[in-house]
Amino acid sequence: MRVLLGALLIFIFFANSLIAEDNFPLIPKATGKPHPEGNEFIRINHMDLLRHDRDLVVKEGIRNIDNSLAQCVTCHVVRDENNEPVTYESEEYFCRVCHDYVAVKLDCFTCHNSVPSAEVSISLFRDENAPFERLMAYLEEKDNDR
Ligand code: HEC
Ligand code: HEC
Ligand code: HEC
Repeated sequence: MRVLLGALLIFIFFANSLIAEDNFPLIPKATGKPHPEGNEFIRINHMDLLRHDRDLVVKEGIRNIDNSLAQCVTCHVVRDENNEPVTYESEEYFCRVCHDYVAVKLDCFTCHNSVPSAEVSISLFRDENAPFERLMAYLEEKDNDR
């Protein structure tokens, strides 16, 4: 019985490390408050949230948005050994860790700053009145279009 259990544990251990190494990139830790919708939600929907809020800013001139790139890169900053923020050029850059893995390439940072900027007055607190309903309505609309 012991031996069986031991074998099982060893198996689980190796299966785990295999999955960890082969199937998932190591996502850098973030600073600030986590997403109230949860990691799972943001993982699946971040691109739509960004597009939605870009359209609000660029097309409708609404600047009070919840998903600005400047905010993403502030909370998700990755620092090098000199404590300097790494840019999108680096393979360790937060957005690239997953994207490189799934072969997604972004052109966003040819225009947008990929490191936190002192000039951007952003808060690391979340707006409790964030337009979450508006986002959900948008996502549902998109689903219906499919
Ligand atoms: C207020 C700080 C903050 C802002 C702003 C922010 N995030 Fe996050 N984000 C977090 C935290 C904290 C987590 C949880 C990280 C963890 O578990 O290590 C997280 C998790 C994530 C995850 C999931 C990571 C994982 O481990 O699966 C993704 C993807 C993500 N954020 C993308 C974004 C994008 C895109 C933006 C901009 C639209 C953004 N975040 C803005 C703090 C922030
Ligand atoms: C050709 C240049 C260019 C590229 C490429 C670009 N943007 Fe933008 N983006 C802009 C400009 C200009 C604005 C308006 C900025 C302003 O008025 O503050 C903007 C605004 C935004 C905003 C709202 C403001 C903010 O601070 O976040 C979001 C979100 C956004 N873009 C997301 C993206 C994403 C995601 C990509 C890549 C898929 C992208 N953009 C690629 C030029 C660009
Ligand atoms: C947890 C993994 C993960 C992280 C971290 C992550 N992404 Fe993504 N992102 C993905 C995946 C997977 C896709 C492709 C989804 C698809 O093909 O439908 C994607 C796609 C995108 C797209 C759409 C690209 C296109 O060509 O249409 C944008 C924009 C985007 N991510 C922005 C960001 C930004 C900005 C960050 C960093 C702040 C980030 N992502 C961090 C997993 C991640």
